[in-house]
Amino acid sequence: MEQDSAAVGRKRRRRGGAANRRKTSSSSQEACPAAPQAAAPSSEKRRRKAGEVAAAPKAKGRKTTSLLDKMRARLSGGHFRMLNEKLYTCSGEDAFEYFKNEPELFDVYHAGYQEQMSRWPEQPVNVIINWLKSHNKSWTVADFGCGSAAVAKNVKNKVFSIDLVSDDPSVIACDMAHTPLEPSSVDVAIFCLSLMGTNFPSYLQEANRVLKPSGWLLIAEVRSRLDPNTGGADPDKFSEAISQLGFSLVSKDANNKMFVLFYFRKKEKSKAVDNIDWPQLKPCLYKRR
Ligand SMILES: C[S@@+](CC[C@H](N)C(=O)[O-])C[C@H]1O[C@@H](n2cnc3c(N)ncnc32)[C@H](O)[C@@H]1O
Repeated sequence: MEQDSAAVGRKRRRRGGAANRRKTSSSSQEACPAAPQAAAPSSEKRRRKAGEVAAAPKAKGRKTTSLLDKMRARLSGGHFRMLNEKLYTCSGEDAFEYFKNEPELFDVYHAGYQEQMSRWPEQPVNVIINWLKSHNKSWTVADFGCGSAAVAKNVKNKVFSIDLVSDDPSVIACDMAHTPLEPSSVDVAIFCLSLMGTNFPSYLQEANRVLKPSGWLLIAEVRSRLDPNTGGADPDKFSEAISQLGFSLVSKDANNKMFVLFYFRKKEKSKAVDNIDWPQLKPCLYKRR
């Protein structure tokens, strides 16, 4: 599913604001695994799907096409890795400015991300969607770093979908450290693989601001980022920092090979501890295969 940014740029002409959007995604493999592989060109994919055999082109022509496709896919994979690294190594404010200036790059990022996610046996966003479906449909939800807004598209709840860029009027384009949501206005705040910026604690502080007392905070993160054996943060320190912000850990689902999912609840009455000792969350960088 390669895309070059120029082509994508022709498709989308938009800026941040409160509305605009893209297509969704899913994820990868062990830790932050492989970058997108040389995806077959869409015409080739369509042909394969339809069970067609490629009309016998001249051997030389076919070779040239396949070489070009491989080169394009490699460029696209490299572009994705670069954008992914950027998101993990800059602040949310810088990421917002970056994509505001070149919103078409957001599609490049999400095409690569989707490619990665297609390799994960289970998508954390689906686990979260199922959790929401099994709870109160009248709860208001805020999906921080919503990607393709899969949550909003799959549940009956009112969902505020938030991301850096949007081409969908239902998605709020902003740096999620500063959302336009009212204080104590949502019942569930979700971060599904979206604690990417170097200032990730400020996203959680914002979630704390908009959550009602007893509201739920669901965080899915790439397993390796919270595994001290692979250079990740200590998950207990991570939970402890969030407790100091004013939450109680209700449960932690570590059954999945690729991600961990934390379920916190905001305390009825709480005041965040000053100078919380936040652990560092290492970037999830994808290796070139
Ligand atoms: C890895 S994707 C996950 C998307 C979606 N939650 C899912 O599970 O499919 C992380 C998303 O968080 C968004 N994001 C990262 N930092 C952000 C910020 N400071 N403000 C808003 N969105 C942000 C990225 O743009 C990206 O769409």
